[in-house]
Amino acid sequence: MKPVRVGLLGLGTVGTGVVRIVEGHQEDLLNQVGSPVSIAQILVKDRSKGRNIAIDSSKLTEDPWEIVRNPDIDVIVEVMGGIGLTKEYILEALDQGKHVVTANKDLMALHGPEILAKARDKGCDVLYEASVAGGIPIIRTLIEGFSSDRITKIMGIVNGTTNYILTKMSQEGAAYEDVLKEAQDLGYAEADPTSDVEGLDAARKMTILSTLGFRSNVALENVSTQGISGVSQEDIQYAKRLGYEVKLLGIAERQDDTISVSVQPTLIKHTHPIASVNGVFNAVYVHGEAVGETMFYGPGAGEMPTATSVVADLVAVVKNMKLGVNGRQAQLSYNVLKLKTDEQIASKFFLLLHVEDRAGVLAQIAQVFSNCDVSIESVMQPSLPNTAGAEIIIITHDASKAAMNNVLKSFEGLKAVRKIKSIYRVEG
Ligand code: NAP
Ligand code: HSE
Repeated sequence: MKPVRVGLLGLGTVGTGVVRIVEGHQEDLLNQVGSPVSIAQILVKDRSKGRNIAIDSSKLTEDPWEIVRNPDIDVIVEVMGGIGLTKEYILEALDQGKHVVTANKDLMALHGPEILAKARDKGCDVLYEASVAGGIPIIRTLIEGFSSDRITKIMGIVNGTTNYILTKMSQEGAAYEDVLKEAQDLGYAEADPTSDVEGLDAARKMTILSTLGFRSNVALENVSTQGISGVSQEDIQYAKRLGYEVKLLGIAERQDDTISVSVQPTLIKHTHPIASVNGVFNAVYVHGEAVGETMFYGPGAGEMPTATSVVADLVAVVKNMKLGVNGRQAQLSYNVLKLKTDEQIASKFFLLLHVEDRAGVLAQIAQVFSNCDVSIESVMQPSLPNTAGAEIIIITHDASKAAMNNVLKSFEGLKAVRKIKSIYRVEG
């Protein structure tokens, strides 16, 4: 029986997991696809580097073209990361008639439409389940499971590194830098962890999820993005006192023919199921007009969970090869939905102010909210141990970012407000 031959681009965290699963589950794979699956060649940056898996060194190469132009390779599994060169390799592989499986959300968020169009022209598959939420099969779920429904909201914890950091800060009072280092050591963080902590990784994943969920092309620049580097221990503790957790949430919403997509640290009510998603776990909450509320939960990063999704895509490609249906992309045309600007996005807000502690201050603050047409839901003034001013926490009703920006601007001219310490979106 002729084996299906795979060219693996990358043998880092995810690539190692792919080799372990393909080698360890041969019998299961054979039962499912009817042929042995073999990792024939592997691209690495440095052949001499020590590996934490036994590999036949004759399979390793530092020359990508040796793999993507090898006529004996059927499927390219790209788990090397990067955008520019990686895109070149994938486009060349498609030109050579090879199917592609990738875990690369950076590439798919930026160049997904071009790569998928080329795949369609060439009659090849490009599958990318592992690019969002590691071990959770959310992409297949959005494409197939929700095909009959109209999705109105997708809310996700889609970055494992930041959820790991926020959980440790919340549960153990740990310092941000220490936990980031741990997440890097555990293989969760990107090569440059700035894209995790500044929200770019989550924004790329929300670009992919909202494009699939709303069946409308969403571009990365349409995603309003803020990371967690400004979240303080004080913010987390105040949020807890009010019954909230702080999570980096990607939120995509649809109202009629208008959508908004954003990523930001958000206060989410303890009672919402997504508030209890901790550590490196991810979750994607999907609301559909017909189905109502659903939530998908699982490990969002790491060697074996991510490799599980990669190899599941590989199985799908090989099944398509057997059936002769590769490259048949089901989605023929996309909706044309309007995107809200950042300023138009509306939500409840949490505001922490440091103010003078004297008569009339609260009235002045309330007047600013009234002038800017922002309605207040609740106000709390926690007692402070010293008399160096007071802190006021305000939670608003739904307001646009534009209206909240007017509130913040008005505070600049108000002597009673010494500092705007924090502002967060509130959900649930
Ligand atoms: P990684 O540990 O840094 O591994 C990257 C691998 O690719 C290494 O083997 C490296 O070779 C090789 N490589 C990188 N650039 C290369 C180049 N220019 N030429 C040749 N080889 C090159 O990365 P990873 O964490 O496995 O992530 C891989 C991909 O999966 C990324 O797109 C990432 O975003 C995505 N992903 C990762 C996770 C996760 O939990 N880690 C989860 C979901 C998706 P050397 O070994 O010789 O250095
Ligand atoms: N750095 C990413 C994360 C890896 O922490 O979620 C999974 O995409």
